[in-house]
Amino acid sequence: MTHRYGDLTAVDDLSLEIARGEVFGILGPNGAGKSTLISIMSGMLAPTAGAVTLGGSEVTPTAHAVKRRLGVVPQDLALYEALSGRENLRFFGRVYGLSGRRLRDRAAAVLDVVGLADRAGDAAGAYSGGMKRRLNLAAGLIHEPELLMLDEPTVGVDPQSRAHIFDNVERMRRETGMTIVYTTHYMEEAERLCDRVAIVDHGRIVALDTPRGLIQSLGGGVIQLGVDAAQRERAAQALAPLRSVRGVAPGPDGQSLNVEAASAQHTLVDVMQALNAASLPLASVRILEPNLESVFLRFTGRSLRD
Ligand SMILES: Nc1ncnc2c1ncn2[C@@H]1O[C@H](COP(=O)(O)OP(=O)(O)O)[C@@H](O)[C@H]1O
Ligand SMILES: [Mg+2]
Repeated sequence: MTHRYGDLTAVDDLSLEIARGEVFGILGPNGAGKSTLISIMSGMLAPTAGAVTLGGSEVTPTAHAVKRRLGVVPQDLALYEALSGRENLRFFGRVYGLSGRRLRDRAAAVLDVVGLADRAGDAAGAYSGGMKRRLNLAAGLIHEPELLMLDEPTVGVDPQSRAHIFDNVERMRRETGMTIVYTTHYMEEAERLCDRVAIVDHGRIVALDTPRGLIQSLGGGVIQLGVDAAQRERAAQALAPLRSVRGVAPGPDGQSLNVEAASAQHTLVDVMQALNAASLPLASVRILEPNLESVFLRFTGRSLRD
């Protein structure tokens, strides 16, 4: 799909397939096109070109039967502040075609899921930011969608609500097998929650794999050696010539030596042998694995938090 706002191309000829039951992460900085993608994938916005299908049925703004099979938790809160939490959920449930006993039962069930049962009678306007987010999550879940899309659900949320949202996503994956699309610019969330992650920048996918696969594609890592200050120079000289060592530099703490490794595991053996041969004592060893942040930096040349 492609989407343009006037001259600006927010989604640029992007193609994507998500499997049933998958927790799929869309990771990218602000302005990457994540929310536009979610809007198109949930049938809120018709793309300029291309199409989205859910199990073979096209998702369009007027495809109401298909849209009932998916739930969206938008980045911008959609709530009626004057209504109570429970009344908000009953409103959204009716929009999704629920009524009567079923509507009441589902509202009670999702209030329980997001931990708001005891505040269900209070006006949503009196909720904290995190509670409002949780109510929004409940609204996206009320009709038991096959596919749930969460757009940056933890931005501006207190730690307790954040943990709650995390736990809910993990539990839904485990217990219901629901397909989940999760956008974020926090790589630790993507790393922890997602089966696969697409890194999106300027409306394009720049990398797509499992978190592990993305990290391994970088290869290497950094081995941090605790070496006595008096021996640091000599240690650096002993290690620099090794073939599996890309570079040696003093650690930022001034206490260690950072060895950039072609492959952390292989390089570690070479490093230990070289230090042993030079009779250099070693106080500590730490392997710093690359993370999704380094992957993002590699593929976009920019930091995720820019
Ligand atoms: N309604 C809109 N009208 C014009 N430009 C928009 C609109 N919505 C988003 N954009 C622009 O499209 C690009 C992608 O935005 P968005 O999808 O919100 O990205 P993200 O969710 O990754 O931050 C940005 O440059 C943004 O300014
Ligand atoms: Mg967004």
